[in-house]
Amino acid sequence: MQFVTYYSGTQATSPACTELEVITTDWLGKMMNLPEEFLHSSGGRGGGVIQSTASETVLLCLLAARTRTVAKYKEADPSTDEMQIISKLVGYCSDQANSSVERSGLLGAVRMVKLLTDENFSLRGETLRKAVEADKAKGLIPFFVSTF
Ligand SMILES: Cc1ncc(COP(=O)(O)O)c(C=O)c1O
Repeated sequence: MQFVTYYSGTQATSPACTELEVITTDWLGKMMNLPEEFLHSSGGRGGGVIQSTASETVLLCLLAARTRTVAKYKEADPSTDEMQIISKLVGYCSDQANSSVERSGLLGAVRMVKLLTDENFSLRGETLRKAVEADKAKGLIPFFVSTF
């Protein structure tokens, strides 16, 4: 989720604003009929956050996915070099994606593949599945899909 925000802080520095963020993002999640686990109120790992811009949001998501994927592969084989894992990562977006997605790939030092869309400019699941399978066969690690 991405909103415009007028504060910068965390629970420690700005508890009232953080509370407002939690309530507001849960409102939005409920309006969108997201499953309960996507909400702060689930008590689990769900919940939205407020970022300053859409571009920042895409970059943040990509870096979070990159960090999580590297950690997963490091756990499976602690001797693996992190840069080696990063060099194999591949993300996907549609050929209609905002340039911020390609830019995030550049900033995150990962491949970003633009996938062809259909006659309605939609990225189809089948297109994504074929790309993921082909890249896995090449030894790459699919880790991120942008739906923007
Ligand atoms: C995915 C994405 N990135 C970037 C932008 C540009 O917005 P901003 O200036 O907030 O980064 C938009 C605008 O809609 C967007 O959808």
